[in-house]
Amino acid sequence: MSILKQPKVTVIGAGNVGATTAQRITEKNIADVVLIDVAAGIATGKALDLSEAAPVEYHDRRIIGGGNYEDTKDSDVVVITAGIARKPGMSRDDLLKTNANIVGSCAKEALKQSPNAIFVIVSNPLDVMTYLAKDITKLPANKVVGMAGVLDSARMRFFIAEALNVSVQDVTAFVLGGHGDSMVPLARYSSVAGIPLTDLLPSDKIESINERTRKGGIEIVNHLQTGSAFYAPGSSTAEMVESIVRDKKRVLPSCCYLDGQYGLKDIYVGVPAKLGSNGVEEIFEIKLTDQELAELQKSAADVRSNIDKLVSLTS
Ligand code: NAI
Ligand code: 2OP
Repeated sequence: MSILKQPKVTVIGAGNVGATTAQRITEKNIADVVLIDVAAGIATGKALDLSEAAPVEYHDRRIIGGGNYEDTKDSDVVVITAGIARKPGMSRDDLLKTNANIVGSCAKEALKQSPNAIFVIVSNPLDVMTYLAKDITKLPANKVVGMAGVLDSARMRFFIAEALNVSVQDVTAFVLGGHGDSMVPLARYSSVAGIPLTDLLPSDKIESINERTRKGGIEIVNHLQTGSAFYAPGSSTAEMVESIVRDKKRVLPSCCYLDGQYGLKDIYVGVPAKLGSNGVEEIFEIKLTDQELAELQKSAADVRSNIDKLVSLTS
């Protein structure tokens, strides 16, 4: 047993995404995990189940679960996945009011125990919930970040690899903007082993990949019928957590607070960002064509209208 302090990550919401995130974080040996849920027994049971998998998975990460925030004290990262998920016929925005109450209260409780933590928000509607978490915690912008772009880009990478029959490992893709139907898949910044995607696929095929990426969430919802995606969201969240905990400084599409970048102010949307031990350490402003910029601004306008909706619902 090491005498060094082990990194500690709290995952709030022990449902599909939260439990999968905890599984990825511990099986990749990134950190010890505390799983918290309003249904304390679910968090306790899943933490025990994950702990019992540890001998088979060959890791020594500790996982505890329950409903007591004191167990989360001094976490390095707090991940919030608590809330309700989409069912068929529901948009992410339908979750707005219910999840705002849940995310707000979870963020406040977690902050009391871990004032120095970086917060990674996952609950939907993602960009608004991340904005709300920053607003409620009053944390500086670098310490509150949302997960969506890693997931949306992973979906796009998979669709590209499938279309070209190549390894996913050689495919990079970038998706910017809000985590909604107006997200902006950027074919010009996507490549296969450095070869621009635009040289490899005709524009109609690229457009169908873009459209499938935008609708990636609802495609899974329509198959499952009982909830939304969780394997790829769990992997994507763990990748962001790893970059923060290990100070890897990965450049990942992340939902960040913008203060003038891309001509946008006082809003959270997905942009390429460097993630390290200080959270969002740098936001990259890549060159966009007029059309790409207009699409990003349209996506940001959709997020803004949801923020306004939230303000009117809560005032
Ligand atoms: P789920 O229903 O499986 O789990 C949600 C969990 O939150 C439940 O166990 C529930 O008891 C818990 N919870 C509710 N209120 C709570 C509270 N006040 N304190 C602590 N726990 C509480 O849902 P799932 O599939 O895990 O999704 C969670 C959220 O993540 C949803 O809002 C979903 O839309 C969102 N999501 C976001 C993605 C993204 O890319 N940002 C991707 C996938 C899901
Ligand atoms: C997803 O994209 C529902 O936001 C969730 O799968």
